Formats: sequence, structure tokens, C-alpha cells
Amino acid sequence: MKVAVFGAKRYDREMLTELNAAHGHALTFFEARLEPGTVALAAGFPAVSIFVNDQVDAAVAEALAAGGTRLVATRSTGFNQIDLHAAARHGLRVTRVADYSPHSVAEFATGLLLSLNRRIHKAHERTRSGNFELDGLMGFDLHGRTVGVIGTGKIGRVFARIMAGFGCTLLGHDPQEHPEFEALGGRYVSVEHLAAESDVISLHCPLTDGTRHIVNADFLARTRPGLLLVNTSRGGLLDTRAAIAALKSRRLGGLAIDVYEQEASLFFQDRSSDIIDDDLIQRLVSFPNVLLTGHQAFFTREAFGTICATTLESVTAFERGEELVNEVVAPG
Ligand code: NAI
Repeated sequence: MKVAVFGAKRYDREMLTELNAAHGHALTFFEARLEPGTVALAAGFPAVSIFVNDQVDAAVAEALAAGGTRLVATRSTGFNQIDLHAAARHGLRVTRVADYSPHSVAEFATGLLLSLNRRIHKAHERTRSGNFELDGLMGFDLHGRTVGVIGTGKIGRVFARIMAGFGCTLLGHDPQEHPEFEALGGRYVSVEHLAAESDVISLHCPLTDGTRHIVNADFLARTRPGLLLVNTSRGGLLDTRAAIAALKSRRLGGLAIDVYEQEASLFFQDRSSDIIDDDLIQRLVSFPNVLLTGHQAFFTREAFGTICATTLESVTAFERGEELVNEVVAPG
């Protein structure tokens, strides 16, 4: 089947090309993101594959369908970039990668937390320029601290297990309570209780209308002074302006993010020679207690291999008229 692969980087091309030997699809790679200005490239492709910052809104869904596309296969777990109702209206089926190494993201969140708490990124910068001073690098023992996990699905539970290994007390918030989280010693509480009682909070829920800005000014006003906040889920979960205000007032002790509300125009590109006219991200990186990475938590050999393999399997199943095990449909 002819597949247009949007947002294709060198690593996408290499992995998809290698794994496609078992499928025989005709893959065409576009570095561009799929959005209103690029959707014309998809004309004549029955399947398109996209990534987290592509945009399948109503206009793009309509244009895709008009160009003959029938399948949108996102190479991600989250599908908040796709208007599922519009896709359904235009007869587009949508698949995602429901399952890939949750360890990739949970381990990365742990790495961010350790770096943020113990200032490892700062120490690295210092020693490279011959500064072996410890002043300003003091952290705290995670052992005995309370860690709040918002979203205790696959990734949240692996993260919780790692934190249990450190000897932390676990609080969770999730509309769907998982016995496995409780088996780790975790206790489900309201989001307000979690905000008030945690020394560390890590976000692992999907971005939906109900979770957008789940961490906002109200939430941050309830937190313990010095809270460390980690977000490896989706940028829209955190109200960035509220986080900046909480950092300025010193209430928020540190912020580590792999995702950012306005990442679509920045991430996955080398913008180092450009003037970046996003004042929020520029303000964020100016804080010594903010650690920012460019949406790389998923990026391990294991997770990325599964992402590419599952995407190709979805296209093959679609071509053969088989059941789409990774299909996502609009609620209701
Ligand atoms: P999952 O579906 O296994 O778990 C999500 C959990 O969040 C579920 O238990 C669900 O009930 C819960 N949830 C839903 N609404 C909630 C709310 N209002 N409050 C608290 N919890 C709520 O998903 P998984 O695989 O654990 O992934 C979680 C998220 O991680 C994805 O939606 C995606 O946004 C993000 N992600 C980020 C990656 C990165 O590279 N930075 C890579 C992969 C996923």
C-alpha cells in the first residue's frame, strides 16, 4: 500500500525501511509535519503515518479524505493531535501504537527527576569548565519522600514501581483505579490531596479536554513549597504561565519537562541558529531549576522498534481488511 510518512526524520526512515522488508509497502517520506499547509502532499496516498505534533483537525481530515486517504496511523500512544469525530465523518480510520515499552518513558522520567533533584546537569556544565564547587548543588533523599503519580496507567505504574524501589510513599490520582498500583503500596487520593501531600509529582495521564491544564495556578497554590514537578506526558497538561509564576515565587522547587504546550513549532528540529520568538520557553530555560528535553522519553531502541513495527502492522491489516487491533474511535 502507498503510505505517506509525515514528520519523517533519519531514524524514522531507517527503522521503517528496515522493518518494511516484511510488509512491502511503498513508503514515501516527508520531513514536513502534516498540517493544513502540507496536506496536499498526501493526495493519492491511501494511508498516511503521522507523529505527535502533526495536526489532523477537521480541515485536514476533509482534505485527506478528498485526496483518497482512508487510514491515519499515528506513530504514538497519544492521539490528541487527531480530531477523531472529524476523521470519522470523513471515513478515515485511525490507528495508534497502544503498547510499547512503558519502561522507556518511566525510566526517562526517573532520569529527569534525579538530574533535577541532584543538579546533575548543572554539575556536568560546571566540571566541563573546571568548576568543582558544590555550592548550589544540594538535593534531597528521595527515600522516605512522597511521590504523587497523576495517571497510573502503563507508564505511571512502571514509574511508581521505580519510586517504590527508592523507598518512596506513593499517592495516585486516576479515575480508573488499578489494583497493581495499590499492590505497590500506592494509595488513590483526590487530585487536591495529591497536590497538597507530595514532594514530587509526575504526570502520566493523557491530554484530553478534562486534563488540559490539570496542573494550573490553583493546583500549584496547594502544593508543598519546593515541589519537584516532572512532565513526560503532554505539554498541555501543565499551564506553563502558572508554572513560571510558581517558579518565580520560589514555591515550585524545580520543573523537568520533556513536553511543552507550544512544542509543535520547535521540537524535533535544530533551531539553534534561529531567533526563537516563544517567550515562554525562553523564560523557562532561563531558570536554573528547570530541565527541558525535546520529547525524547520514548526514544529507546526497544520502544522505537515497536512503534515502527506496530505502525506497519496496522497498515498491513488495513490493506488486508483485517481487524485493526490498534484502532482508536471517537467516544460515543
Ligand atoms: P495508559 O492509557 O496506559 O494510562 C493513562 C492513564 O491515565 C489511565 O490509567 C487513565 O485512566 C488515566 N487518566 C485518564 N484521565 C485522567 C485524569 N483526569 N486524571 C488522572 N489520570 C487520568 O497510557 P500510557 O501508555 O501510560 O501513556 C500515558 C501518556 O504518556 C500518553 O497519553 C502520552 O500522552 C504520554 N506519552 C509520552 C511519551 C513521551 O515520549 N514523552 C511517550 C509515550 C506516551
